[in-house]
Amino acid sequence: MSDLTFEIQSHPAPRSAEERAALMVNPGFGKVFTDHMVTARYTAARGWHDARVEARAPLQLDPAAAVLHYAQEIFEGLKAYRTVDGGAALFRPEANALRFRRSAERMAMAPLPEDAFVEAMRQLVSIDRAWIPDTPDGSLYLRPFMIASETFLGVKPSSEYLFVTIASAVGSYFKDPTGTVTVWVSEHYTRAAPGGTGAAKCGGNYAASLAAQAEAASHGCEQVVFLDAAERRYVEELGGMNVFFVFDDGTLVTPPLSDSILPGITRDSVLTLAREAGLNVKETPYTIDAWRADVKAGRLTEAFACGTAAVITPIGRVRGREDDFTIGDAVAGPVAQRLRALLVDIQRGKSNDAHGWFQKVF
Ligand code: PLP
Ligand code: COI
Repeated sequence: MSDLTFEIQSHPAPRSAEERAALMVNPGFGKVFTDHMVTARYTAARGWHDARVEARAPLQLDPAAAVLHYAQEIFEGLKAYRTVDGGAALFRPEANALRFRRSAERMAMAPLPEDAFVEAMRQLVSIDRAWIPDTPDGSLYLRPFMIASETFLGVKPSSEYLFVTIASAVGSYFKDPTGTVTVWVSEHYTRAAPGGTGAAKCGGNYAASLAAQAEAASHGCEQVVFLDAAERRYVEELGGMNVFFVFDDGTLVTPPLSDSILPGITRDSVLTLAREAGLNVKETPYTIDAWRADVKAGRLTEAFACGTAAVITPIGRVRGREDDFTIGDAVAGPVAQRLRALLVDIQRGKSNDAHGWFQKVF
């Protein structure tokens, strides 16, 4: 257990109920921020200290802060949901805390104690509870992150870190929450290589994905599909989501975890729910050639992306330099819809939580 305690300094002038309501009418994703943030500092001499809940404000950083030069940065993404009884709950926050620690270790950063991470989430959700949308697709997206704050230009792990969590009232990630997305298979760019940082949630992975994401967007696609870096054959994941394939014999396939795939908490939850629902679940490598052929042969009936931001989003169409195929009728399929309902009902406290995933905040 960590002995880090959070000092609460409420915002002296939070936005009014009217301002908040206007901002939350159609929040989109990651644009509407709450009144507070959580911060904590680490130095090699003092360990983690100075933890606070305070008014959201710009950060002050020395221009020589290590993060600005060598990108020692990690983040997480998790949501607080309005529950049917008017309260709020987090979904598996300790899983995000664990992944945050593993990301820190991979990036040679000081790990934040997992109980302090979860406590930071609970504090922010509590103080900014009025910002949790009360809509079917709405939630409060929490964005914890950590940066290397030592003022030093030598290339080495920083000896000082700043942990921050901000929160954003969000609707659905994609424009049409009931629709499907079109994905672009990146042939030239890869996301992560064996031995690299693909399994860590570090900002650098996303910076490296942006040229591919821009290429996808220029072809009218919402997300990019990354293939493995060694052979450029195996489907790994999307720019910001894991991927699943559904077959006509009731098999559900997702690529196995490796050091080039982010171990998604939604992915892990979907695997559990799908097994319980009687699907034949396989974590096995799957190639782009097989994807194309299985769709053509009618064996593959659905594919979907999953993640905290995307929840479960069906993939309707796959494009690439040599590809353009449609999955089924490019509408949300029954397996994706069923798994989504099972997941969302647990997240919102509407169904029995047999796995201890649902964590009530108030
Ligand atoms: N893969 C990548 C690259 C991601 O950015 C995300 C989103 O966090 C995921 C997968 C899904 O992870 P999770 O389900 O934990 O949100
Ligand atoms: C998430 O689902 O939390 C993500 O991180 C995806 C994207 C917004 C980066």
